[in-house]
Amino acid sequence: MKYRIALMPGDGIGPEIIEQGVKVINKVSELHNFEVEWVRYDNGADRYLKTGELITEDTLKEIKKTCKAIYLGALGDPRVKPGILEKGILLKTRFYFDQYVNLRPIKLLDGVECPLKNKTPKDINFEVVRENTEDFYVGIGNRAKIGNSKQELEVIRSLYSVKFGLDIDTQGSEIAYQIGVLSKKGSRRVIEYAFERARKNKKTKVTAVDKANVLDSVYSFWRETVDEVAKKYPGIEYDFNYVDAITMWFVKNPEWFQMVVAPNMFGDIITDLGAMIQGGLGLAPGGNINPDGISMFEPIHGSAPKYRGLNVANPLATIWAGSLMLSELKMQKSADLMLNAVQEVIRDGKVKTKDMGGSSKCSDMGTAIAKKCEELHQNK
Ligand code: IPM
Ligand code: MN
Repeated sequence: MKYRIALMPGDGIGPEIIEQGVKVINKVSELHNFEVEWVRYDNGADRYLKTGELITEDTLKEIKKTCKAIYLGALGDPRVKPGILEKGILLKTRFYFDQYVNLRPIKLLDGVECPLKNKTPKDINFEVVRENTEDFYVGIGNRAKIGNSKQELEVIRSLYSVKFGLDIDTQGSEIAYQIGVLSKKGSRRVIEYAFERARKNKKTKVTAVDKANVLDSVYSFWRETVDEVAKKYPGIEYDFNYVDAITMWFVKNPEWFQMVVAPNMFGDIITDLGAMIQGGLGLAPGGNINPDGISMFEPIHGSAPKYRGLNVANPLATIWAGSLMLSELKMQKSADLMLNAVQEVIRDGKVKTKDMGGSSKCSDMGTAIAKKCEELHQNK
């Protein structure tokens, strides 16, 4: 079997970490007799600065036609204003392929130092399913100067019957607003994904995140949808956590969680915290998944521009994201081999990158994982 995969190394440390992911996947493909053809796309800061191009409709179409998945390094560069590459490439791709699930495992591997006192791998082992196409990410927002834009002022007036701190009566004063939108279909499909995945993986509880006590229009809608979906899963217990409270519980009682489902922005925030409790951003992978389409896999950390080219970054999050990719491509055995190799190399404790308190290079880590895959394969 041959898989064509779009490879987007991106910016900063992106190229060096993705190279390690490719190294490991190539090794696994050799061991398990499948073939990967990597199709490189150089979208990112350099290309943008040279040509003004972020990612074109044509490129996306080509990927859709010819590739089975996308493997992404990282995006972001200090020479480009924040938001341009992130919105113009990363979010654009997530939206184009309707990758409505952002799957982020929060799993403390054995041998990883956990910043939480007395917590062990059996306490930190859950998944966050983050909605990935709606909420505050829909891009509806603007600034308005009162007096200049009558129309916008009317919109704001119609939205707010109470004023509180909003100074919208003084001529010349400024406001800014951003609107979060949830749709029934958009909420239901991701909540169903979380329950279905919980059922498949024999988890008995789903926790839904929101802020229904304040942002009540959108998040009471979210809660109702969770209630509706949960009815189809009588064997799965579920509860609701406010987003502020769940940050506290992630730290105090992470063992309470099995499957967490969250709207886009809260999911973004809590998974950075999740990354920390599983040992840091160097170990946190993510998958942007469209279960019926083309999915994209990436480490959840950024491009760390100051480490670019130094060969010191930790490639484990990217390698783990590669494992998620193989799992989504229905190669579970290969996915397991990759993650087991990550676990074993960490347990051995001989190869550690800078963030893990060692001095191994990024490329040493990739080589060690590839070698471990071979060993585990032979000894099975
Ligand atoms: C993430 C990132 C992105 C997000 C940014 C870079 C647009 O923080 O993948 O978590 O907010 O989704
Ligand atoms: Mn984020």
